[in-house]
Amino acid sequence: MLGFGAWAIGGAGWGASDAGDEAERLATIQLAHERGITIFDTAPTYGNGASERLLGRALKAHRDQVVIATKVGPRDEPRRSLEDSLRRLDSEYVDLVQLHETLDRWEWQLERLYTLREEGKARAVGLCNATHLQLARALEIAPVASYQAAYNLFDRDVEERELPLVRSRGLAFLAYRPLAAGLLTGKHASPPEFPPGDHRAGIYWFKGREFERRRAVIERLRPLARQAGVSLSGLALRWLLARDGVTVVLAGARNRRQLEENLAGGAGGPPLTRDLVETINGITRAVFRLPRPTAQAAQQARAWGTRERFIVERLDGSHTPESIAAEWTDRGEQPMVAAQVKVFVDGMVEHGLVDAES
Ligand SMILES: NC(=O)c1ccc[n+]([C@@H]2O[C@H](COP(=O)([O-])OP(=O)(O)OC[C@H]3O[C@@H](n4cnc5c(N)ncnc54)[C@H](OP(=O)(O)O)[C@@H]3O)[C@@H](O)[C@H]2O)c1
Repeated sequence: MLGFGAWAIGGAGWGASDAGDEAERLATIQLAHERGITIFDTAPTYGNGASERLLGRALKAHRDQVVIATKVGPRDEPRRSLEDSLRRLDSEYVDLVQLHETLDRWEWQLERLYTLREEGKARAVGLCNATHLQLARALEIAPVASYQAAYNLFDRDVEERELPLVRSRGLAFLAYRPLAAGLLTGKHASPPEFPPGDHRAGIYWFKGREFERRRAVIERLRPLARQAGVSLSGLALRWLLARDGVTVVLAGARNRRQLEENLAGGAGGPPLTRDLVETINGITRAVFRLPRPTAQAAQQARAWGTRERFIVERLDGSHTPESIAAEWTDRGEQPMVAAQVKVFVDGMVEHGLVDAES
């Protein structure tokens, strides 16, 4: 199902003007509810509490008809964090409280969240951004209900380990960044210049070779979207909604126009055909195929660090960035994500260390 991602609506960190458009942001949440969206995802950090406050105001009269999911930060004391969230949300409970990240004290935090659930302040507990090893461990500590991570047709780390685990253990999966933070709407023909304070200035796919690869995919998706009679964002959302194991697709929208477009594309209409899904997957596979190292680079890599060697040894034509990152993460040390593999290999390309023909 399509859910509402309430980060941008918090009005900060997305280049939005802070105060002026508050009425529009409130109206966007109200419209989401009117149009049948029943799950809203927020966090204390979104707009420094503004997202939770807006959700509280907009959804107060319909509290029992909606699911509100918030988070507890990796450095936060769970009780204080959740109680502050409840005050901002003007609610006695949240339906789901999620650990935003799993850093040093995450097991301790998870146990505290269960105490809060027993007290009725949260109806369920979930994890975000954990590795599959942490998720498996969490399931030994307590009955985790959900897992939230980035997933869209470009960012597919979860397909390797977490989604299969989520499916086999019957957890809900909430996919975030379904539009790659706006890129999958197709509105950026060249690398965007974000205004000061917009966190996307630091995201690797809005620049360099990764931007070019994604743009190449988007240009090939446009005619497919036209044929299917949907917008590009609609195609991206429906692709995600069709993936096995995906429970909720958390699409962000900063105003009613964006919400309407995402609803029209993502929530209505027939699902994508199997053929179309395969065509899309074929396009991404081809564009993100990893090159092979030159013989000289393979030789040089023997003197590089363990992580770098690990990557280079797997540039053999049979691995994807996601599979390399997952194999590394299996070791239980510092995890790796596909983005790190891609950025590293792009560095090799720039230094002439890959085979141009591969
Ligand atoms: N657990 C976590 O660590 C985590 C991390 C990230 C996100 N999330 C959750 O997932 C939700 C969704 O992710 P996200 O908001 O980061 O990314 P997203 O849904 O991929 O992208 C949302 C952004 O894309 C642009 N956009 C959306 N619809 C559009 C349309 N129809 N036309 C043009 N532009 C459009 C808007 O930004 P512009 O107009 O500024 O381009 C909007 O804010 C968040 O709101 C949050 O609830 C969770």
